[in-house]
Parts: sequence; structure tokens; C-alpha cells
Amino acid sequence: MSSISSATVPEACHIDVDHVSVVFGTGTQQVTALSDVTFQIQSNEFVSLLGPSGCGKSTLLRLVGDLLQPTSGNVRIAGQEPERARLQRQFGIVFQTPALFDWRTVRHNVELPLELLGTRRKECRRISSELLEMVGLTRFADHYPWQLSGGMQQRVSIARALALDPPLLLMDEPFSALDEFTKEKLQLELLEIKRSTGKTFLFVTHSIPEAVFLSDRIIVLSAHPGQVHSIHSVNLPSDRHSELRETEAFYHMITTIRNCFYEERDESHVPEVL
Ligand SMILES: Nc1ncnc2c1ncn2[C@@H]1O[C@H](COP(=O)(O)OP(=O)(O)OP(=O)(O)O)[C@@H](O)[C@H]1O
Ligand SMILES: [Mg+2]
Repeated sequence: MSSISSATVPEACHIDVDHVSVVFGTGTQQVTALSDVTFQIQSNEFVSLLGPSGCGKSTLLRLVGDLLQPTSGNVRIAGQEPERARLQRQFGIVFQTPALFDWRTVRHNVELPLELLGTRRKECRRISSELLEMVGLTRFADHYPWQLSGGMQQRVSIARALALDPPLLLMDEPFSALDEFTKEKLQLELLEIKRSTGKTFLFVTHSIPEAVFLSDRIIVLSAHPGQVHSIHSVNLPSDRHSELRETEAFYHMITTIRNCFYEERDESHVPEVL
């Protein structure tokens, strides 16, 4: 494989999912998790994957994150295969549970990806300080994960995913285990990261209000097998504040998306979408 230089990494990152299917297992155990899924995501877009439990949201995210290969079809990140994009450190991943190392301090958890690359100590310190400030955890830099609340731990994992400054963030229901107050605070922090860094987000959720509040576009998936049901542009102001949640436009968008699931239900089953 040729060496990786920053010159080979395109500035603009976009995702191209092209006629992708994923089949797990064989024979009677066979499950078609995704069937002929196609969509594109532009640079600097915040796109949510929304759908009922089991419709293939995590499977799709894993395909983009090079944690899984499609049975057929192609995934490209800025024109590259996911493996190559991973080697070029084009994306960071945040999972539903923070998955931090309990024996490392908050700062050392954030610095881990940098240490693995052999980044100099001083530079590691500079980057982790900046990121901890960004996620509001400067005071807790020398604490251990088990001394933090769930929301604070999730902020550490967001900071860690940003450590290598990837142009793309892949997030799988990162706030689903959190209380409403913490969730809303972290949603605003995420929008601020997007505004200040211009990163691209692929965000999995089963919450319609969360998807509407955060996204530029929402990809609604239907289940069994997982397919693209519909894709919606969220025509709300790009500068989003908490007050937006009280507006008619916000409710209208939620209703539009919710109606997709009622259509779905009439055709099959009741999806577990909030
Ligand atoms: N490793 C695996 N082996 C076999 N089947 C799998 C595997 N991973 C996922 N599946 C199946 O693929 C389908 C999609 O799963 P996936 O985890 O992508 O759903 P999801 O939309 O993320 O659901 P949730 O909202 O509950 O997290 C499900 O039917 C699931 O049982
Ligand atoms: Mg999932």
C-alpha cells in the first residue's frame, strides 16, 4: 500500500453508499439486515439515520466505519474504500456506550489515539487541553472515567473521537442512555462543534425530535429488510437554539417524519420510534 500523506486526503469528505446489501448468517438463520441501500452525504452535512429497532442503522454505520463488509454494493468515503479512509484517519466513531479505559485519566483517554500514532507528549497535551475545553471538561482532566457521570463520559468519548481531527464523525445513538437535560445540552455542543469545525456527521438515532433538531437531512429507514424509506431535508434555520424546539416549524417537521412511520405501520408493524 502506498504511504499516506496529507496531500492524498481530500479536504471535502463525503459518503457514497451505493446499492448496499448486508446478509448475516446462512440457511434458515439468514437475516437480510440491509437491502439495496443507496444515499450520498455531502461534506459539512449533518445527516441522521432514523428508524425502528433492528432496521439496520448500526449495520450501516459499521459499514461506513470499516467494521463490516457489505454482502454486495459499495461504500466510499471521499472516493476511498472505508479501510483506506480509516487508515487515513478520515473518521472518528462514537458508540452508544462510551467505552473508555477506566485505568486512564480523562486526559489520557482523549490522548490515546494520538499516543498510538507516536505524537509528541507536548502536542498530545495541547490537543487534549483544547478538546477538553471544547466539551467543557477541563476541570475533570485528571479524573478517572468512573468518577464521571454518564453524560460526562460520553463527552470524553466525543473528545477522543475528535483527537485526530477527522473530517467525519460517525455516531451510533450516543445520547440514548442520557437524561433529557444532559441530552439537550450535548446536542447543542455537537451543533457547536459542527459550526466551529465544519465536520461531516453521520448520526444514528431512533428519536425523531433529536434527528430533526440536529440534522440537515434525515434518512428514514424501514425494517425487515432495512431499506431507505425516504430522505428529508430539514428546512429549519442553520443556527439552532433550544427555542427552536418550541416553534411550529419544528413540530411540523416532526409530524412529517412521524407520518412516515404511520405509513410503515399500516404496511407492516409498529416501529419503536419516539
Ligand atoms: N453480527 C450479526 N449477526 C447476525 N445478525 C445481525 C448482526 N448484526 C446485526 N444483525 C441483524 O441485523 C438487523 C439489523 O441490526 P442493527 O443492529 O443494524 O439494527 P439497528 O437499526 O441498529 O437496531 P437498534 O435501534 O436496536 O440498535 C437485525 O435484524 C439484527 O438482528
Ligand atoms: Mg443499533
